[in-house]
Amino acid sequence: MTVKETVREKYGQAAQRVATGGSSCCGASARPIEGCDPITSNLYDPSQTNELPDAAVKASLGCGNPTALATLNPGETVLDLGSGGGIDVLLSAKRVGPTGKAYGLDMTDEMLALARENQRQAGVENVEFLKGEIENIPLPDNSVDVVISNCVINLSADKGRVLREAFRVLKPGGRFAVSDVVTRGEVPAEVRQSMLLWVGCIAGALEDYDYAAKLAKAGFEQIDIEPTRVYNIEDARQFLAGEGIDVNALAPQVEGKFMSAFIRAVKPSAKECCGPACCS
Ligand SMILES: C[S@@+](CC[C@H](N)C(=O)[O-])C[C@H]1O[C@@H](n2cnc3c(N)ncnc32)[C@H](O)[C@@H]1O
Repeated sequence: MTVKETVREKYGQAAQRVATGGSSCCGASARPIEGCDPITSNLYDPSQTNELPDAAVKASLGCGNPTALATLNPGETVLDLGSGGGIDVLLSAKRVGPTGKAYGLDMTDEMLALARENQRQAGVENVEFLKGEIENIPLPDNSVDVVISNCVINLSADKGRVLREAFRVLKPGGRFAVSDVVTRGEVPAEVRQSMLLWVGCIAGALEDYDYAAKLAKAGFEQIDIEPTRVYNIEDARQFLAGEGIDVNALAPQVEGKFMSAFIRAVKPSAKECCGPACCS
């Protein structure tokens, strides 16, 4: 199975758990551990979520709260890469208001079905969920004001392409405002090689400097990576447990190296037009 097929299967199962009244706690992991993992738990303030359908909140599998940190203005168009059950799309739709629009993009049918049902229950009209892959975004060039995402880009096997696609669909001056897991320092090979840890947003995480370099290569400016949660040894024990890994040996080598971060960047504004031919 490829990374993408495994990710699709695990997040399809997570969506079905929520759709049948369960919780997405433990993320895409098959591990039946008690309680939520340290990455996805307690991300939203109740004042943000109390007007959302319960299933949208239960399906939350992010690692941050991009809509709380991003600037979103009335009338703007927002795109959420890997929108899952739709929590950040519904929150964005509120912020951009009826003259704006929020798109969610996801490749997993079960997640799209859950998100569309959550939209129906929320009674929100300025939202559209699209089926597709973040490596090949089904929207035209220069069509979006803000790209958000919550713990998804680390899942892609081709992150450079995802960032180039985000750049393409953003309007000149558009903002990239993404929560993601990143690493700092060397991570043991056993962790990088675990497919389940990849699906759980760990193994595929980029080093922070590499993330910034890939954003710059895609054309972004004003790049900033701000840690929002740094994972300690007990957190490391939780996400390594049950993955066929020697937790006691590895947890100390992982401590402090994984963090959730808020990543900002801007697509440069178009050059001033100097004549009919010079700004095409
Ligand atoms: C960790 S969950 C995050 C969901 C949501 N952003 C949230 O905060 O709850 C990852 C989501 O991204 C989707 N996804 C993963 N890789 C994708 C890809 N390459 N293209 C489109 N969707 C993808 C999965 O189907 C899943 O719904």
